Amino acid sequence: MKKTKIVITGGAGFVGSQLGHQLHKQGHQVVLIDNMSFGHLDNLVVDNETFGQLVVQDIRSTAKKNSVFNNLERHFEDVDTVFHLAGISALPVCQTNPQEAFEINTAAVGNVLEISRRMGVRRVIFSSTSAVYENNTSDFLSEKEEVNPDLVYAQSKKFAESICGAFSKNYGMDIIIARFFNLYGAHQDFKRQSPPFTSYLARELAADRAPKIYNMSDVKRDYVYVDDCLALLQIMMNAPKKYKADIFNIGSGIGYSVPQIYKLICEISGKKISPTEGKPESFWDMYTDLYTGPHPLNSSRISKEVFKSAVANTQKTFEEFAWKATCPMERGLETVYQYAVERR
Ligand SMILES: NC(=O)c1ccc[n+]([C@@H]2O[C@H](COP(=O)([O-])OP(=O)(O)OC[C@H]3O[C@@H](n4cnc5c(N)ncnc54)[C@H](O)[C@@H]3O)[C@@H](O)[C@H]2O)c1
Repeated sequence: MKKTKIVITGGAGFVGSQLGHQLHKQGHQVVLIDNMSFGHLDNLVVDNETFGQLVVQDIRSTAKKNSVFNNLERHFEDVDTVFHLAGISALPVCQTNPQEAFEINTAAVGNVLEISRRMGVRRVIFSSTSAVYENNTSDFLSEKEEVNPDLVYAQSKKFAESICGAFSKNYGMDIIIARFFNLYGAHQDFKRQSPPFTSYLARELAADRAPKIYNMSDVKRDYVYVDDCLALLQIMMNAPKKYKADIFNIGSGIGYSVPQIYKLICEISGKKISPTEGKPESFWDMYTDLYTGPHPLNSSRISKEVFKSAVANTQKTFEEFAWKATCPMERGLETVYQYAVERR
């Protein structure tokens, strides 16, 4: 395999750091760009060794006057592939800070694509999200469906997908849009205010606390273990065809409900702790800004989000890349739980 230079934005985050480690092990030159707003240095040490070159830099950086390169641009010299993973992903954080969410998740995608264009990057792989399907109701969500999200996070990614489409159309750039469903695994940040669901459960059980759960229904979502996702991202990087901002779901095609996941993680941890139940409409209550002033967030919108079903149709991805997620939920959750125990 040809060794190349690869840029990973969001390289100190959950997915970016582990992708960077794997690509580094294969002999690629890896540049990890991250402003450390949600990234962790801890993610960049494996077996007491660091990997890649960390550049602490914001993806919103624009060109400096009288400079051939802006701060970001010089790191894109001779780069073969850009994995654009930097973003703000917690939904209520985006909802509370729409300007910042659109700046980072949307406008900065334009910045990264423009730099990639000028610097002749061969392929850009952009991390979109299954959240763009938030108002769709199919049992298995397909890339063919029209999407019409209205929450800030999902909108910011949908608009970014559209920018990818425009760069591909107008400049002939090779771009892949990967719609991640719920990724999970070790290194997912369970300390943040709104941690991802599986990491949150693991954190609470590891500390012998009862997690608060807002949805005990049998509505199901699609979970993909991070190693499965990393395998696919590398297949995407090496695929011989040229892509035109084609969209691919990264999902397992299998849905799990909250009670099913809770049962599994209790079995793994050996803990017999009953969760406390929260009212669905109060899921985002700690983000008080959303409820102040004369136009508070509609509480029925939150309930709808809590009870959203989201399982991927994986056919297109399988046909294109011969990839299927293979890690069983039990094994993936075991890793998540061990990670939480080691860091409690
Ligand atoms: N993890 C999931 O389940 C999931 C699902 C759907 C989509 N995604 C998307 O995939 C990408 C990676 O997800 P993750 O779970 O690794 O998230 P993460 O939060 O762990 O990593 C994102 C990284 O981007 C960095 N970042 C944020 N704003 C930045 C900026 N302005 N400049 C430079 N760096 C910045 C953060 O510091 C962080 O390290 C994100 O764009 C996310 O929206 C993730």
